Amino acid sequence: MKRLSTVGAAVIGTGFIGTVHVEALRRIGVQVHGVLGSSPERGAERAAALGVPKAYVSLEELLEDERVDVVHVTSPNHLHVPQASAIVAAGRHVVCEKPLALTAAESAALVEQAAAAGVVNAVNFNIRFYPLHQHVREIVARGDLGDVRFVTGHYFQDWLLLETDWNWRLEPDKGGALRAVGDIGSHWLDLMTFLTGEQIVSVMADMATFIPVREQPTGPVETFSTDRSSETVSRPMGTEDVASILIRFENGARGAVSVSQVSAGRKNSLQWEIDGSVAAAAWDSETPDHLWLGHRDRPNEVLMRNPALMTPAGQRAAALPGGHVEGFGDTFGALFRAVYADVVAETPAERPPYATFADGHDEMLVGDAVAESAAQGRWVDVARTPAPVPA
Ligand SMILES: NC(=O)c1ccc[n+]([C@@H]2O[C@H](COP(=O)([O-])OP(=O)(O)OC[C@H]3O[C@@H](n4cnc5c(N)ncnc54)[C@H](O)[C@@H]3O)[C@@H](O)[C@H]2O)c1
Repeated sequence: MKRLSTVGAAVIGTGFIGTVHVEALRRIGVQVHGVLGSSPERGAERAAALGVPKAYVSLEELLEDERVDVVHVTSPNHLHVPQASAIVAAGRHVVCEKPLALTAAESAALVEQAAAAGVVNAVNFNIRFYPLHQHVREIVARGDLGDVRFVTGHYFQDWLLLETDWNWRLEPDKGGALRAVGDIGSHWLDLMTFLTGEQIVSVMADMATFIPVREQPTGPVETFSTDRSSETVSRPMGTEDVASILIRFENGARGAVSVSQVSAGRKNSLQWEIDGSVAAAAWDSETPDHLWLGHRDRPNEVLMRNPALMTPAGQRAAALPGGHVEGFGDTFGALFRAVYADVVAETPAERPPYATFADGHDEMLVGDAVAESAAQGRWVDVARTPAPVPA
């Protein structure tokens, strides 16, 4: 059995989130041997900036590095499947960013491939790993809220509010056919499945594209950048700016979520509330160390994240004592600690707390149901029969 300090990693993609992966890996004590960028020049520039020893010139070169046990895929969405597939074929463990694939047929094939190879496989639904979310999952499972009845919330951002805002996510061949739902709605939907322990079985969705034409800069654009280019090309938009989704869960609970990338002032606002037959719970990503607990016959409570007051899973995910706020970046360390425990054990856990490729595939199936429902204007069941695996 390996020790954490001898496990090696490499990170594909050196943009917004690739940088967060590198920093979190170092923090948990994993050696990052190198990064792979979109070009050898970009990779070398980012490796130097991050203090990573090597910029691989190709995925082949990366996979020839015997010191690399785990590869993190943080490239744009359309590259996840080809890169993750090559990594698994080389017998390496893999942490892939969401969404796992562009289509459910692709993600189904990846699930099969990873299972056959026996490698640890994770999809980076990091929001599960706010310590209070690990805590909530356990208090819901032990019945503190009673039967889960009503699950509501939103995920709003504003960085695509203007027609001059541009990113590769706006190009369906790179980002996928769903945009706001695939990019951020998927986090909320995965989180609710995780917290309640209930699968989403049916959806009724309405989506809108308010900005039908956007101005694409002729040069590259960093994610979340507000720099404006003077040279642009007009591009028609097919993907959604907003979505409203009604949800039915397997236990009969009902839900509703609003998703938007055009809500002025909402930089990265995820909120949820779970109403049960005994009590309720609610959380807001802008105050991530606070959990609201609602009661009918006694005063409501606010639990400030504190390992001493949380369930075992909440304690495991917490890195700091209470009162020292943990945020977005910390969730990556907590998730990676869970993944790398399996890497050290050299086998995937049967029911790990992190999202696996199977969970990532399930999210693709929910997304397909959302797209179909919006197109047809009716309720659509999530088609859980495994999609056919391409020969
Ligand atoms: N879990 C989260 O909270 C979270 C947050 C942001 C993004 N993401 C996901 O992470 C992925 C990247 O998003 P981002 O916001 O960092 O985008 P980004 O554009 O900032 O970064 C993507 C990087 O990939 C690089 N790249 C492009 N082609 C490549 C190739 N062939 N090989 C290697 N690298 C290549 C680009 O140069 C860029 O540095 C997306 O799939 C996105 O959905 C997840």
